[in-house]
Amino acid sequence: MKAIEIRNKYLNFFKNHNHKIIPSAPLIPENDPSVLFTTAGMQPLVPYLLGEKHPEGTRLTDYQKCVRTTDIEEVGDNRHLTYFEMLGNWSLGDYFREESIAMSYEFLTKELGIPNEKISVTCFAGDEDCPRDTLTAECWEKAGIPKERIYFYGKEDNWWIAGEEGPCGPDTEMFYDTGKEPCGPDCQPSCDCGKYVEIWNNVFMEYLKKDGKYTKLVQKNVDTGLGLERMAMLLQGKQTPFDTEIFKPIMDRLGELAKKDDIASRRIVAEHLRSSIMIVADGGRPSNIDRGYILRRLIRRMTRQMNKLEIDLNELGALIDLDINVLNELYPELADKKEIIKEVIIQEKDKFMKTLIRGEREFEKVIKRIKDQGKNTIDGEDIFKLYETYGFPPEVSKDLAEENGLKVNMDEVDKLFKMHQDKSRLGSEQKFKGGLAGTGEQEIKYHTATHLLNAALKEVINKDVHQMGSNITAERMRFDFSCDHKLTNEEKKQAEDLVNKWIQEDLQVTVETMKKENAIKSGAECMFIEKYPEDVTVYTIGNVSKELCGGPHVKHTGELGNFKIVKEEASSSGVRRIKAILE
Ligand code: ALA
Repeated sequence: MKAIEIRNKYLNFFKNHNHKIIPSAPLIPENDPSVLFTTAGMQPLVPYLLGEKHPEGTRLTDYQKCVRTTDIEEVGDNRHLTYFEMLGNWSLGDYFREESIAMSYEFLTKELGIPNEKISVTCFAGDEDCPRDTLTAECWEKAGIPKERIYFYGKEDNWWIAGEEGPCGPDTEMFYDTGKEPCGPDCQPSCDCGKYVEIWNNVFMEYLKKDGKYTKLVQKNVDTGLGLERMAMLLQGKQTPFDTEIFKPIMDRLGELAKKDDIASRRIVAEHLRSSIMIVADGGRPSNIDRGYILRRLIRRMTRQMNKLEIDLNELGALIDLDINVLNELYPELADKKEIIKEVIIQEKDKFMKTLIRGEREFEKVIKRIKDQGKNTIDGEDIFKLYETYGFPPEVSKDLAEENGLKVNMDEVDKLFKMHQDKSRLGSEQKFKGGLAGTGEQEIKYHTATHLLNAALKEVINKDVHQMGSNITAERMRFDFSCDHKLTNEEKKQAEDLVNKWIQEDLQVTVETMKKENAIKSGAECMFIEKYPEDVTVYTIGNVSKELCGGPHVKHTGELGNFKIVKEEASSSGVRRIKAILE
């Protein structure tokens, strides 16, 4: 069954069960610059899961375009994708477990024709926050799944939340048995051997997590998600999504064009090309921050892999044409945007090629030297120099090193970036740490003031203002930010007043540690996300600011005194600099 047929069957099935079909929200969340991309079907529906009335009623269904980039480095294997489509159905305080499970079972077995024996399910085992979900297991048994294929797991497997806070609840996951031999006597859906593939997740969303505590939502919701590419792969009996009609024509064409073949490289090109097309179509543009940087990184990785396959890079335009054709069945709207998609992707490729050619030449010299010295690890210093001198991205160095059987000391690279914080264009966390070499009381106050100023500029100018750098001494702070114009006196005054208002409100400054992915989902401000470790600290000031940052900070904004902007000037193209003091 082709992907488009699965999608149509899904939407029709739920329509016939009184659901309203709603359109996919854009990949780039509307009115929410804090979230990079839409990562799940529920994301645009959060207000309604919290109790707001949805104009289309209490039963909804859609297909949602999603991008998740935490596993970007895994792309090239047989399953990871950065772009995927999620089919979903929702009950907003309408049906709950019984009906949801009955519908899922009917859809899988009757509409998709999956035999009962192929399906295993998992349920929440219970803990101090929420009881064991025996009702879900009973519903599955009633539907026809025997006890021995019903498993119970804890929060790590059977609890779903987008990020750290928000609507959440126990879930039940459906698994497809590929028929592979079990990896051992304990082989279960939770294991990673590939025998069981997760196909659908139904979340019984009746909780709200806030400040680490769970309370009941005003209504009981159901939120579900079914990955389209994966389902297409399974129903077509293929081993990877790259063998389905969604990718095959591109994979084949890349094979014809490549002078040196490598399946992982072809998958990266095919996968990143599709993601880039989808992101550009929804308004994304390459840049050095946030989602723009993700797009830039996708195009760079794709370009480099094409280069590695020795594909003529002038073929990129024709490959985009081909991919838009391939995707036409699922996303006919791409056709109208073809020219802009090609322009953006090709321009970025051209820009990167110049850097790549020079950088790779230099990189080869480094490799030769390391190998001549009989070493197997490249020093951070070498990687940093390539970045500083040739603009060669560290993640490309890392990929190249690995391809040459060498390791890179990325911790050392990070350290160097921090030390050279004023020269580099790295994110706020690195800059702050670097800028806070001697953290006296006064520096700490300035540090908190930069967060307030960052938040104030976003309000006064616009949400696209981002921190590009900072430098702090005991006497003053300097703050660089992206902005296309000289600030007017009025704007300066408003920003200053706003910071002082927040200081007077004596807002509390809190810190928490969370997983990087969750920090991003929670809307924390940051740049160059892949430069951060997996566990990050997030500083929140009242409800005005939330940033990934290494600290330290004051406990209350009231400690800061009076904030005064003393100068506003150009720093570099598109970047302004504010000097400010605390009196
Ligand atoms: N929101 C749930 C998920 O993404 C359905 O798995």
